[in-house]
Amino acid sequence: MELNTIESQDVGTATERQPAAASAAKKVFVKTYGCQMNVYDSQRMTDALAADGYAPTDVIDEADLVLLNTCHIREKAAEKVYSELGRIRELKAERAGQGRDMLIGVAGCVAQAEGVEIIRRAPAVDLVIGPQTYHRLPDVLARARGGEKIVETDYAVEDKFEHLPQPRRAEVARRGVTAFLTVQEGCDKFCTFCVVPYTRGSEVSRPVAQIVAEAERLAEGGVREVTLLGQNVNAWHGVGENGEEWGLGRLLFRLAEIPGLARLRYTTSHPRDMDDELISAHRDLPALMPYLHLPVQSGSDRILKAMNRRHTARDYLALIDRIRAARADIAMSGDFIVGFPGETEADFEATLHLVREVGYGSAFTFKYSPRPGTPGAEMEGHLPEAVKDERLQRLQALINEQQRHFITSLVGRTISTLIEKPGRRPGQKVGRSPWLQPVIVDEKAGEIGDIIDVRITGTGPNSLFAETA
Ligand code: SAH
Ligand code: SF4
Ligand code: F3S
Repeated sequence: MELNTIESQDVGTATERQPAAASAAKKVFVKTYGCQMNVYDSQRMTDALAADGYAPTDVIDEADLVLLNTCHIREKAAEKVYSELGRIRELKAERAGQGRDMLIGVAGCVAQAEGVEIIRRAPAVDLVIGPQTYHRLPDVLARARGGEKIVETDYAVEDKFEHLPQPRRAEVARRGVTAFLTVQEGCDKFCTFCVVPYTRGSEVSRPVAQIVAEAERLAEGGVREVTLLGQNVNAWHGVGENGEEWGLGRLLFRLAEIPGLARLRYTTSHPRDMDDELISAHRDLPALMPYLHLPVQSGSDRILKAMNRRHTARDYLALIDRIRAARADIAMSGDFIVGFPGETEADFEATLHLVREVGYGSAFTFKYSPRPGTPGAEMEGHLPEAVKDERLQRLQALINEQQRHFITSLVGRTISTLIEKPGRRPGQKVGRSPWLQPVIVDEKAGEIGDIIDVRITGTGPNSLFAETA
């Protein structure tokens, strides 16, 4: 499943069952909003909390701690947190009536961006913790249990990854055969619409040895497919085991050597950081899946400039030509913003034109949302909601058509599939295609974790039906 900036998603801990033996333990309910990096962070926070005696639960009513891991990317995403906090406040009051405490914590990008303002607007919140300080969570919680209201949004000087516990092997196994692994955090690009440089701070790459150790641990727990994450994942760099400076391409080759790891992906990339080595990896590294999320945001050079993307539409198309020359069957994915300040009908048509030129396998479309503190919010020429709506619909229609075209082109082909989990219907299992679509197969087709060849026999709205090849 592609989870690009989904506004609210009960993933990670909220959907996990708790170990039977932990009934006396304190319980934490985590709800995750936003991008894959938040999904990853929620897991790491759950691991830190497990070491502190909190078992995960997906039943909010029984939680001693409710943790919202939030997203600030668009206004709608940020506001959702406050309506959720309203509901949780009532639950907390109910619980207090029964003589039981419930702590409420807000983590993630809203926590970082709004800090103490959250407690002002929602006084039932006990702790606010920014993404750079998750390793301090047990300490923060101990203070919160003592009745203190806590806002922890400093940029920690110590490396949080160094201090966060790794999941136990059983926990890795329980999370499934695909996993996220954050290798890079933060962003120095300052696109004029975007809050990420303010909520996640400047670019930091995790060291090679740390990443390799974590990937090995995942593989030992049965993970077959790892997606490397970063706000600008292809800006990742580090000193490799040979003492040389490595880029993401080199790192991918290294990770592909780990026994058991059969599939690798990375997201999200910036067009300016696609170097030759990374492009070559798409040609020479079979484990690297032929799917690339490479957001362009707009097809108009004028708008790209106003967005501070620092490349043109032509640069982007030339880059895709190079990527396709390396790997012909690669499916491109992207993000688009419609209705950026000053976007004319001609600018928007340039975006439609670019989409037609590229032919996306999938893509995500967003209406521009002015964000406090970003240069875009201060620009002239904000567009009426109705114009943004209309453009969003037109772009969405074109992308849906391309997505449909891509999916139907797979019918009759034999493709590799990683069997991921039991299907919703009895007798079925669900796998994952190289291009991220769910593949529905007969449950006897293979065991979870197997990678098998299947023949595609038909399609659902965004899924594939297959029989053993
Ligand atoms: N680092 C990635 C994007 C991270 S944010 C990149 O540079 O491409 C994920 C997506 O959210 C962006 O690609 C953009 O399409 C969208 N987005 C970011 N800020 C937005 C805003 N203010 N309004 C609407 N969409 C936005
Ligand atoms: Fe935001 Fe631009 Fe950085 Fe992506 S590259 S996270 S859009 S500032
Ligand atoms: Fe949202 Fe923060 Fe991710 S703003 S998209 S959760 S980096």
